[in-house]
Amino acid sequence: MTKYRNAGDDPADGWFPESVAAGYDAPGGANAPEVVTPVVDVLEDLADGVVLEFAVGTGRIAAPLAARGVPVSGIELSRAMAARIASKPGGDAVEVTIGDMTTTRVAGRFSLVYLVFNTISNVTTQDGQVDVFRNAAAHLRSGGLFLVEVSLPDLRRLPPGQDTVPFEVAPAADSGGYVGFDQYDVVTQQFTSNHVTVSPDGKGSFRRIPFRYAWPSELDLMARIAGMSLKHRWADWDRSEFTADSTKHVSIWGKNR
Ligand SMILES: C[S@@+](CC[C@H](N)C(=O)[O-])C[C@H]1O[C@@H](n2cnc3c(N)ncnc32)[C@H](O)[C@@H]1O
Repeated sequence: MTKYRNAGDDPADGWFPESVAAGYDAPGGANAPEVVTPVVDVLEDLADGVVLEFAVGTGRIAAPLAARGVPVSGIELSRAMAARIASKPGGDAVEVTIGDMTTTRVAGRFSLVYLVFNTISNVTTQDGQVDVFRNAAAHLRSGGLFLVEVSLPDLRRLPPGQDTVPFEVAPAADSGGYVGFDQYDVVTQQFTSNHVTVSPDGKGSFRRIPFRYAWPSELDLMARIAGMSLKHRWADWDRSEFTADSTKHVSIWGKNR
C-alpha cells in the first residue's frame, strides 16, 4: 500500500499535494462541461461585482467564471492546486491568495463568496467551520451572499451497528479494481472517505481523507453566528426543491444589513 503523500509532495499542501493536483483536472467526472456549466451559470447570475471562491483549487469553477467577465479572487491552501489555475482559459484573471479559508483575509468587499464541491467538510472541527462562515461574512458587503454546496451524510443507509457505507465497488475485468467507502462516527460527526485501488499485479494504494459533516440546520446556525440569514436552499444547481430525499444541497445566506 502507498501513502497518500508521495515523494516530492509538500506537506503544507495538506490533502491536495502535487501527486493529487496532477490528476485533479482529468477529463470527465467533476470536470465534465455538463457538471461545470450549471455551477458557473448560477454563480454568474448571483454575482453583482467582485466574487471570492474559498478553496479555489485548480480553478475548475473560478477560471470559467472569470472567462465570462466576472472578477474572481480565490483563497487556496495548496500551492500545487493553485499553480494550475493560470494556464486555464480565464484563469490568468483569477487573483489567488495562498492561505487557510478559516483565517486568511484578502482586500476588497465582495458581492458573493462561494465554497463548492463539499469543501466545507474538509474543515474537520465545528469551530473551524464557524470560522469559515465568519470569514465569509467579513469579506461580504452588506447584503452580499455566501453560497455553500455540500453533500448530506449518507446516514440513512447505516443500519444500527454499522458505520461504513460503500459508494463505489468496481472490480476490474481482469483483477484488481477500486473500492470507495465512507466511514462515519455519528457521535463526533467525523467521517472519512476511503479509496482503495488495486492494480492487476496486486499492488495497491489506500487513501483516507478526514471530514466533518453538518446538517443544513447546523450550517444555518453558523450563518446566524456570522450575521447572515438563509435566502435559498436548493437540492442542486438546477434550483430544484430541497426535500427529505435530497442527497446534497446548495445553500445561500445573505449578510444582514
Ligand atoms: C475538492 S477540492 C475543491 C476545489 C475547487 N473548489 C473545485 O470545486 O474544484 C478541495 C480544495 O480545498 C482546499 N482546501 C481544503 N481546506 C482548505 C482550507 N482550510 N483553506 C483553503 N483551502 C482549503 C484543498 O487544498 C483543495 O484544493
